[in-house]
Amino acid sequence: MKKIGILTGGADCPGLNSVIRAVVRKAVAEEYVVTGIKNGWMGLADNNMKVLDLQIVSGILDRGGTILGTSRIIPPLGDELMSKMAENFKRSGIDAIIAVGGEDTLKIGLDLYNKHQLPIIGVPKSIDNSLTGTDYAFGFDTAVNIATECIDRLHTTAESHHRIIVIEVMGRYTGWIALEAGIAGGADIILVPEFPVNIEQVCDSLRERHKRGKTFSIIVVSEGAEIVGHSNSIEQEENRKNHRVSRVGELVADLIEDKTGYETRVSVLGHIQRGGTPTAFDRIIGTRFGFHAVELIKQQRYGTMVSIRENKINAVAIEEAVSKHKAIEDDIYSIAKVFAE
Ligand code: F6P
Repeated sequence: MKKIGILTGGADCPGLNSVIRAVVRKAVAEEYVVTGIKNGWMGLADNNMKVLDLQIVSGILDRGGTILGTSRIIPPLGDELMSKMAENFKRSGIDAIIAVGGEDTLKIGLDLYNKHQLPIIGVPKSIDNSLTGTDYAFGFDTAVNIATECIDRLHTTAESHHRIIVIEVMGRYTGWIALEAGIAGGADIILVPEFPVNIEQVCDSLRERHKRGKTFSIIVVSEGAEIVGHSNSIEQEENRKNHRVSRVGELVADLIEDKTGYETRVSVLGHIQRGGTPTAFDRIIGTRFGFHAVELIKQQRYGTMVSIRENKINAVAIEEAVSKHKAIEDDIYSIAKVFAE
């Protein structure tokens, strides 16, 4: 009988519990047992684990957050901590670990796989949707839906007051949330890390809108967006890695108000984007990912991450998934640009 370990690491997001439930349900059907490792990789270092059974995972499909808890640890980890984890893994009797997480969690998993031969399977979680090798990570769809609803709400108040409203959304390296929520919410300008902009261009677009009789505007900006010639704290790599806040929304709003004289307000959505119930889409891909992760253990395809491409579930090497960020490309960004002219 196999014993599977599962952990959820890094930022939480809606859909984590859908994955945990699917892993346990599929594992029990295969007559495996499942051990939950608490608080991400820290639980392996601290030997903090508990058995997961059907009763524990009952009723959690639609619950936000993670019943296992999580923690943020930034790779690369020191040799001592890595060895401790490898040692605890051996003692636990676990045959393979499913690591559910984003870039940091998967990089630690890859290091443990490469340096200590731990059998690891990854499951892609990222509200930023920044992992390579998969069209979607779960959590992203929910974040986009929350951000879209917020944009809708801010639209009506911006219009009534004839104001510019700058909405800052998450996305340190990639601007997928800003792009998709911006398109869905009818934003007038979308600013993302992949395409640094000049603030004069932004102000010109706003002036053009005013000339056309539009006395309000909605600007969606990713926290990692760059304004040419104006630095914000998240541009420094060290800050980005440590998940420091950027305040780019405030920067953009101040510059606009200064240069155009239009009354401007800022709304930073922050962790609201990561809370609450997952969308049906995230529940479904979370369930498919969890099911397939157990299949990959059956096939002993360690060092891989479950992925979805053209609606087909498959696997890619974790190494590929974390090799670079999945950046927005010109063709899709050009849609956003049409609305800023
Ligand atoms: O990596 C996911 C993410 O939500 C980013 O979009 C954001 O920059 C970061 O986590 C925030 O991290 P924390 O929850 O540690 O503040």
